[in-house]
Amino acid sequence: MVDSTIETAAVAIVGLFALNLAGKALLHVYKTFLRPGKNLKKLGKWAVITGATDGIGKAYALALAKKGISIVLISRTEAKLQDVKKEIEEKKYEGVEVSYVVCDYSKFDKAAQAKVEKAIKPLDVGVLVNNVGVSYRYPMYFHELTDDEVQNLMTMNIDSTVWMTRMVLPGMLEKKSGAIVNISSASALYTLPGLAEYSGSKGFIEKFSRAINAEYSSKGVTCQCQAPFYVATKLAKMRKSLMVPTATEFVSLAIKWVGYSADCVVSPFLLHAFQGWVMDILPEFILTPQIMSMHMATRKRGQKKDALKAAEKKD
Ligand SMILES: NC(=O)c1ccc[n+]([C@@H]2O[C@H](COP(=O)([O-])OP(=O)(O)OC[C@H]3O[C@@H](n4cnc5c(N)ncnc54)[C@H](OP(=O)(O)O)[C@@H]3O)[C@@H](O)[C@H]2O)c1
Repeated sequence: MVDSTIETAAVAIVGLFALNLAGKALLHVYKTFLRPGKNLKKLGKWAVITGATDGIGKAYALALAKKGISIVLISRTEAKLQDVKKEIEEKKYEGVEVSYVVCDYSKFDKAAQAKVEKAIKPLDVGVLVNNVGVSYRYPMYFHELTDDEVQNLMTMNIDSTVWMTRMVLPGMLEKKSGAIVNISSASALYTLPGLAEYSGSKGFIEKFSRAINAEYSSKGVTCQCQAPFYVATKLAKMRKSLMVPTATEFVSLAIKWVGYSADCVVSPFLLHAFQGWVMDILPEFILTPQIMSMHMATRKRGQKKDALKAAEKKD
């Protein structure tokens, strides 16, 4: 009797969980594939994208240009900026202009901010993609980072987002239209030993985005935090697989969510979202040690590579 009651309760719990997952998945599919994307061109002539010469940033630049939006590319390597500018211009999208600003976001001091501001202030900016960011070379204990690495990560991940947002907000508020997209990471959503400062910085972006969205969405300016798991880019050092989309695949889905203020923190790739829903039900005392041991294994491999490189240099 007791056994059958426990069995029934277990079946009911599993059933409810499956139902909940199915509901979330259906809603996600609707929002990604069936709901019409916002007309981003209506928000303003220009989109500004940081870290726009590779990975997710470059994919956003190409996708927004395809929608007829003019693009300001911002990154640190001028030759790569020129290549991406040329790549977009060769597509000959009607009315699309492309310009660029060379900026090293690891040194985003007042002078660098003034240079970027001078370039974008006169423009009718409808979309800002705060994409630039850096992670660790591989997972490490926090004390193993150099002081420079600690500072760079804060400047690139946090300062860039905060100051770029302040630059475009006045113009967006004046015309009551704009969409700010902040690229965070799924690492913001969990306790991440081995990547403490990276996940902390992305957590900042998540909270910042939520509050900015709440402050301004009634004034026509939305702020969305997109939090992917792995995307196959240089930063992630991962190859494409079922769970790891290319940057182009990721952005082709992610762009459809931009401008929906009710979806403030999103994981636009369905299998990422699914991974998140499953991780959400695991208690922290199970999840955190798992992440820790995974990261420590990657750390060991990274340290081995470092040691090999150092030995090669000596020879
Ligand atoms: N890939 C993932 O799995 C993943 C997952 C979650 C979140 N994210 C986030 O997504 C964002 C983009 O990452 P990604 O994977 O697309 O990176 P990526 O492929 O390595 O591209 C990075 C871009 O940022 C630029 N950049 C790097 N350092 C810079 C600096 N100091 N100043 C100015 N520009 C700089 C690069 O320009 P150069 O070519 O000149 O170096 C490049 O255009 C990051 O915020 C990252 O945290 C990525």
